Amino acid sequence: MIKQKIQNKEKKMRILFNDSVDEDVKTWILPIFADNKFGTDAEELDKKSNGLIRKAVDSSTFEGKFKEKLELRTVSGTGLDNIILIGIGSKSELDSNKAEEVGSLIEKTLNELRIEDAAVFLNGVRDFGDNIADGAYLYSHRFDKYRTKQSDKDKPSLDELSFVCKNSKDVEEKFDILKKIAGGVFFARDLTAEPPNVLYPESYAKRVKEMFKGTKAKVEILSEKKMMKLGMGSLLGVGQGSAKDSQLVVVNYQGNPDKSEKPVALVGKGITFDTGGISLKPPAGMDMMKWDMGGSAAVIGAMKAIVDRGAKANVVCVLALAENMPSSNAQRPGDIVTSMSGQTIEVLNTDAEGRLVLADAMTYVQKFHDPKIIIDAATLTGAILVALGHEYGGLFSNNNVLANQLVKSGEAVKDRLWQMPMCTAWDKQVDSEIADMKNIGGKYAGSATAAAFLERFVENDTPWAHLDIAGMAWSDTEKPVSRKGATGYGVRLLNKFIEDNFEG
Ligand code: BES
Ligand code: MN
Ligand code: ZN
Repeated sequence: MIKQKIQNKEKKMRILFNDSVDEDVKTWILPIFADNKFGTDAEELDKKSNGLIRKAVDSSTFEGKFKEKLELRTVSGTGLDNIILIGIGSKSELDSNKAEEVGSLIEKTLNELRIEDAAVFLNGVRDFGDNIADGAYLYSHRFDKYRTKQSDKDKPSLDELSFVCKNSKDVEEKFDILKKIAGGVFFARDLTAEPPNVLYPESYAKRVKEMFKGTKAKVEILSEKKMMKLGMGSLLGVGQGSAKDSQLVVVNYQGNPDKSEKPVALVGKGITFDTGGISLKPPAGMDMMKWDMGGSAAVIGAMKAIVDRGAKANVVCVLALAENMPSSNAQRPGDIVTSMSGQTIEVLNTDAEGRLVLADAMTYVQKFHDPKIIIDAATLTGAILVALGHEYGGLFSNNNVLANQLVKSGEAVKDRLWQMPMCTAWDKQVDSEIADMKNIGGKYAGSATAAAFLERFVENDTPWAHLDIAGMAWSDTEKPVSRKGATGYGVRLLNKFIEDNFEG
């Protein structure tokens, strides 16, 4: 196979924290509250400019409303090139998510103005300084590695963004943790954005192995041969039509001082490309199906965040990786496969493949890791897009305590979830006439019948939640802290969920 050569060197912004501003930095950013228009930083600067800044603000319509901007160029007396006032809104309404948005706005503004370095004055907003930096950092992530003809002026201009406040070390320490979590988000975004000729099950597994090298987490990769021995007929049927070997990747991290504590299991759907198989998808938009591994990216990105920040929890992550292709060897509608659980499945639509790979991954993790909780993430159904669009992931669970915990953690980091109902009528719909179940339900409630199918692979009523993130892994529009493209949705949610509930 031809090795793809990548030429474009991506530019990465550096983030620094300082107690005082470096004199070479000629662009200053002043966050301004709506309540008092002028913060201490602005006040001081205003003196330097002989009141010119205040004058400019007073004569403008700038009110310090959330994400409002006022750009002042070459204010005499200051020796600066730019002073940019950024509205924070009312002080009482500021929270971490709004602070992130302010950060992403700063990154965007500076690149639009082609500025290379700038200082953000944090004294008025010090409590949220780490979140502002995090927003800028999250938003600075791009996927430009294949754009070999990108000229310097098409690349982001911003090299260095420094955050200035008293005792900046404290803010920096808080940011260091957020930076590790962002590293997990970036890993998920990069995996999701990779084209399917580059990212296929084996190359994906290799990347995971590389990523966790030298960490406390152990990576195990199961080939088709190994999965065959384990009887994973459901997963293997999906990859059967592909020239690529399917893979099961298991990442085990024991961060809890008590190693015997049962782990939380994170299971991800990793279809590196979903053509639909013999139940072939229509051509329009089929390229989007490269991100049908978004669920696996979410869980492995969360795992990276959890491992890198040294979470005191035991977490095991399983990625079910396969490519769903039509071929003379592909599985047919009507085939009956035997899953690792022993249950048989009539495959009536080869495009309902996500549940098939997840089923065996769930059985595997229960057999070998005895988890106390199972959470799966998957770009599972188009129907969840009809229901929730691009704003909420769909949450299905057999346990309301778990569901509420997930909703809460999601809300906190704005990876939002909406709980969907489960009921026995939907479970009945996946009964088959000639096997234990079939892989599709009726015409309606496609996300719910998919969840009902998955629930059949949960043993002993283990608390389980299924996140259908088909509308969230990728976005055609800008999000608060991500550009068009892969969002890394789910990484911060799952990391927060572990932090909130399993670290003492
Ligand atoms: N990967 C798709 C789901 C999907 C659709 C994700 C659109 C993102 C955007 C999944 O494998 C699929 O094809 N699901 C089918 C299930 C149906 C055949 C029961 C669907 O949703 O149409
Ligand atoms: Mn499909
Ligand atoms: Zn799919």
